[in-house]
Amino acid sequence: MASNSAAGWRTIPDTFRLGHRTSWTASHARAGKAIRAVVTGAAGFIGSHLCDRLLADGHDVVGIFSFRHLDLVEEDLRWILEGADVVFHLAGRSGLGVSQTREFAGQYMRDNVLATQRLLEALVAKPVKRLVFAGSFSVYGEAERLPTRETAVPRPLSSYGVTKLAAENLVHLYGRNFGLSVTTLRYFTVYGPRQRPDMAISRFMRALVRGNEIEINGDGEQSRDFTFVDDVVAATVCAATADAGGDVLNIGGGSRVTINALLTALEEISGRRSRRRHLPVSLAEQRHSGASINLARQRLDWEPRVGLRTGLVRQWQWFQQPADHRPGVTQEAVTV
Ligand SMILES: NC(=O)c1ccc[n+]([C@@H]2O[C@H](COP(=O)([O-])OP(=O)(O)OC[C@H]3O[C@@H](n4cnc5c(N)ncnc54)[C@H](O)[C@@H]3O)[C@@H](O)[C@H]2O)c1
Repeated sequence: MASNSAAGWRTIPDTFRLGHRTSWTASHARAGKAIRAVVTGAAGFIGSHLCDRLLADGHDVVGIFSFRHLDLVEEDLRWILEGADVVFHLAGRSGLGVSQTREFAGQYMRDNVLATQRLLEALVAKPVKRLVFAGSFSVYGEAERLPTRETAVPRPLSSYGVTKLAAENLVHLYGRNFGLSVTTLRYFTVYGPRQRPDMAISRFMRALVRGNEIEINGDGEQSRDFTFVDDVVAATVCAATADAGGDVLNIGGGSRVTINALLTALEEISGRRSRRRHLPVSLAEQRHSGASINLARQRLDWEPRVGLRTGLVRQWQWFQQPADHRPGVTQEAVTV
């Protein structure tokens, strides 16, 4: 996929056409039914995989990403939606973030809430058959129960979680008030090739390769439900056509392990020993996360297929390639 670091904004538009010959799902493609998908956050970790998959299935994809003046908060988005059948809204500001006013307003509010609201306004003018929104497990905060169901009361602990919850509520408010067909998927800790460099597995792999100390928040006994990116993409594609209008669905991989256990697995896979340093617990970080995915199973007819060890091996193999040979975009190329 193209990097967005080339050429000036005058010469490339804030959308880039990734391919032609479109269809809705692979089966629709075989049936020759063309569709057009708009993907926001297309140059990001999950968005780039989603684009790869949609293109492989024969879809027509328009990708939107942040590039100089060209972003969801600034642009008139209606023309981008012209003729679109579905919008996958993955653009957003990730990372947990402490609640400092400037950071909260400047980054999280802007890229998670305002950008989403602007996209929704454009969708009122140019409705599509389905908006799929990338929500997050971070909305739950400390889990009342594990695995956590979608009906749990959300109490996010971070600026990120608060703004993802606000965006999710906006999506469903517009769905209800303006008759938009919307589905929120709450992704649980996604990993795999091209994972964002700030995420734990990326950081751990980098430290293992360089022989650096690995920094762990707290005692390392916090746990996460790790979800391989291909499984997330599969669920996201299913959500576009499934009978899931108005739904909020957990998308988790079913591999809930502690950070300590994760590191031990990475040591085995890499054949390298880590030096671990424990930092104070981060207040923005929840202790445990685990998804109940029964609703997603029902609504999407979807099941995670990649176990943690297999997924980690794939990410490790990708990570070992020289940076400029790794397929896809690097984070350095997509961050502005
Ligand atoms: N990675 C995970 O584990 C995870 C878990 C839960 C939810 N999510 C959600 O999934 C989505 C994708 O996550 P990711 O890990 O691929 O993140 P990412 O940072 O790699 O991708 C997000 C992309 O959105 C773009 N973007 C941000 N603000 C924008 C704006 N105003 N206009 C246009 N583009 C903008 C960024 O440039 C980036 O390319 C995000 O919405 C994130 O909140 C991710």
